[in-house]
Amino acid sequence: MKILVIHGPNLNLLGRRETGIYGQVFLDDINRQIQDLSAELDIDIEIIQSNSEGEIVDAIQVRDYDLLIINPAAYTHTSVAIRDAIAAIGKPAIEVHISNIYKREEFRKKSFISEVVTGQISGLGIDGYLLAVRAAQKILLK
Ligand code: DQA
Repeated sequence: MKILVIHGPNLNLLGRRETGIYGQVFLDDINRQIQDLSAELDIDIEIIQSNSEGEIVDAIQVRDYDLLIINPAAYTHTSVAIRDAIAAIGKPAIEVHISNIYKREEFRKKSFISEVVTGQISGLGIDGYLLAVRAAQKILLK
């Protein structure tokens, strides 16, 4: 059972970036929590972060995984390419947002990704990633 986690653009700045919205936890700490939980659940995990849309599309296409957990960040609201890559590969996927994208600016309410994923978690802070790992395990065991 292998999960690929993709963090999109600007998430490398977590802990320093708009902390009132995204909190004060650094990406490395989030990744450690994801890795610890995955080890506990006996799940193989690979985690990447990229600011580049093309790199994210490449990762979705070529990495070896059974389920994708993705926070596409700003590309959520713009990227037909990432949407199409997820649809083309056809593996289960969970979209995660730290903030509640439906409670913010109007442009954030549209996700190009949500139509092609198994489910979405939005607004639960960094716990969203951990809930996604637990949900992934259930999806893959079905
Ligand atoms: C985000 C929400 C997006 O609208 C924003 O562009 C991000 C982060 C979130 O995790 O809440 O960069 O995906």
